[in-house]
Order: sequence, then C-alpha cells, then structure tokens
Amino acid sequence: MTQKDMKISWVPQGGQATKVQTLAPTTEPQGSGLPSPTWMVGCGNMGGAVLAGWRAAGVDLAALTIIRPSGMPIEGIRTVKALADAGATPKLVILAVKPQSLEDVEGQLRSHAGSGTVIVSMLAGVTVASLRKRFPEAAAIVRVIPNLPVAVRRGVIGLYGESLDEVTQKQIGELFARLGYTIWLNDEAKLAALGALGGAGPAYVARFVRALAKAGEAQGLSSATAATIALETVFGTAWLAASSGDTMDALATQVASPNGTTEAGLAVMDRDSVLDQLVAVTIEAAARRGAELAEEAEASSLA
Ligand SMILES: NC(=O)c1ccc[n+]([C@@H]2O[C@H](COP(=O)([O-])OP(=O)(O)OC[C@H]3O[C@@H](n4cnc5c(N)ncnc54)[C@H](OP(=O)(O)O)[C@@H]3O)[C@@H](O)[C@H]2O)c1
Repeated sequence: MTQKDMKISWVPQGGQATKVQTLAPTTEPQGSGLPSPTWMVGCGNMGGAVLAGWRAAGVDLAALTIIRPSGMPIEGIRTVKALADAGATPKLVILAVKPQSLEDVEGQLRSHAGSGTVIVSMLAGVTVASLRKRFPEAAAIVRVIPNLPVAVRRGVIGLYGESLDEVTQKQIGELFARLGYTIWLNDEAKLAALGALGGAGPAYVARFVRALAKAGEAQGLSSATAATIALETVFGTAWLAASSGDTMDALATQVASPNGTTEAGLAVMDRDSVLDQLVAVTIEAAARRGAELAEEAEASSLA
C-alpha cells in the first residue's frame, strides 16, 4: 500500500502531533497486546527499552517469547536461548540484535519466517531490500527506528514498511504509538535521516546536558547540584516548548532581556553559527555511518 508521511500520535493518543497534552502517566485502556505468538530476537538496550515502554503502557506481553543467547531472564516474559526452543511459528518477529548478529540469526530464522509472519526490524542501516533477501517468504517487512526514551513512552519512532496490508500497518503503528511520537515514512531514506536525528539524538542531548553541568561546576556549583540543574533545565525547557508550541526562537527571546546576561551568552553561542555548524556536522557524521552500515549489510546479504 502507499504510505504517506503520517504522524500517528503523541502519547497519550489524540491531540495535536506538535503539542504535548500532558506529560503525566497515561491511563489508556489496557487490552491491546502483541499477536500470538510474537518473538523478540535479541533484547539488549533497545529491545529492553521497547519492552519497558510497552509494560508501562499496559500492553499485554503474554504472547511474547524473547530469544537471547545469554538466556538472561526478564521478569514475566518467557525467555529462551535459541530460536529452536522458541516454539510455534510466530505471527510477529521483532528483530532487536546488532546488525553484526544478523548473519547468525538469519540462518535459524528463515524457516520460521513464512507467509504468516511479519518481521519488524530495529537494525539501523539494514534496508528492507536486504531483509527481504534474507527472509523472502515473510508476509511483510517493516523497519522501525526507535530511540531510547521509548522506555518512558517519550520516544521518537520512525516506521517504514513494504508489502503491508492496511490492518497490519494499523496494528503495528498502534503498538509503537504507545511508546511515543510515531511516524510512518514513505521513503526509506528518510528513515535513515530520522535515525541520525532521533535515534542518535538522546546521546547528543546527553552530551549537551553534561556540558551545561560542567560549565555550572566551573561557576562554583557542586557537581551534583550542577548536574541536577542542567538536567532539569533541559527537561523543563522541552516540556515548556512542547506544551506552549512556541518556536525555539520565541522561547529564547522570552529568556533574554536586551543587553542582559542571557543575551551575552547567546552572542557567544550564535557567533558564526558555531552551534548550528557543530550539530550539523555531528548529524551528518551519523548519517554517513548509517549509509556505510547499510552498504556493509547489503554486501553481506549478497555474499
Ligand atoms: N541503542 C539505540 O539507541 C538504538 C537506536 C535505534 C536502533 N537501534 C538498533 O537496535 C538494535 C539493537 O541495539 P542494542 O543497542 O539494543 O544492542 P545490544 O544492547 O548489544 O543488544 C543486542 C541483543 O542481541 C542479542 N543477541 C546477540 N546475538 C544474538 C543471536 N545470535 N541471537 C539472538 N540474539 C542475539 C543479545 O543477547 P544477550 O542479551 O543474551 O547478550 C542482546 O540482547 C541494533 O540493530 C541497533 O541498530 C538501537
């Protein structure tokens, strides 16, 4: 089906995609769950974050089996060490391994991924075409690029799929919409852009918070106080901006009085667009690496 750039929703559902209705825990009705059976292959940082978000959203995880070599148990969820022990053919497979582990998983998974199985892959840089070569019989292949704040249901989630019927697209979209701002993209290249910005973004924001905290320490605050002030400032600013819908320029103007302290700081930050340039080359580097990973995955699927 033809997909459009379609914003599904903020959490909680409904309301303007560009505004946060509330940041309080949501109270949506429980009940929607994963198709039975669902397998999650790999459950590290990102798989674990998705699970945490679904749990917080009250998604029924009874149908889920996790496959991970360590067999490290996850409370309340059936966990096995090998695909051979996973059980009946899955309706949904969520791939949450590193791209480097795909070769290993592929051989074992292919025979389970038939015409009744939808594959949702989180693997950054591994294209639908590459996945399709590995799992030619699968009913549909969807790529998802989440980011770590899905764990607290404030994630950014990009989706792109091929061979999807409308019902499946809706079901998958709704599952991920429980984890934050979810958008279907109509062009796989845009998914890479979303990954460079939203997928990697929490790491850049974390660095910015750390830099704020270090600067606060240099002004004489204790390290713990500076860290808390830096984090709360970024959190509060994001909350305010999302709630008010004000542009970032308008927000900065509200803080900066003419010739005041903030303006003195902004003059440094804005000089020669130094911050814009730093962020632009940072995101470009992430996008370039994403393209390299896609090429490596493509090469290995042809090998
Ligand atoms: N981290 C992010 O912010 C982010 C953002 C967007 C997309 N992604 C994508 O998410 C994927 C997972 O990243 P991650 O950061 O969660 O990696 P991770 O923390 O290293 O987790 C990898 C998981 O894969 C499992 N695994 C390894 N070999 C396996 C095999 N042969 N069969 C089954 N499971 C296997 C590991 O099992 P054990 O637990 O038993 O060791 C672990 O649970 C990557 O493809 C990445 O591109 C990540």
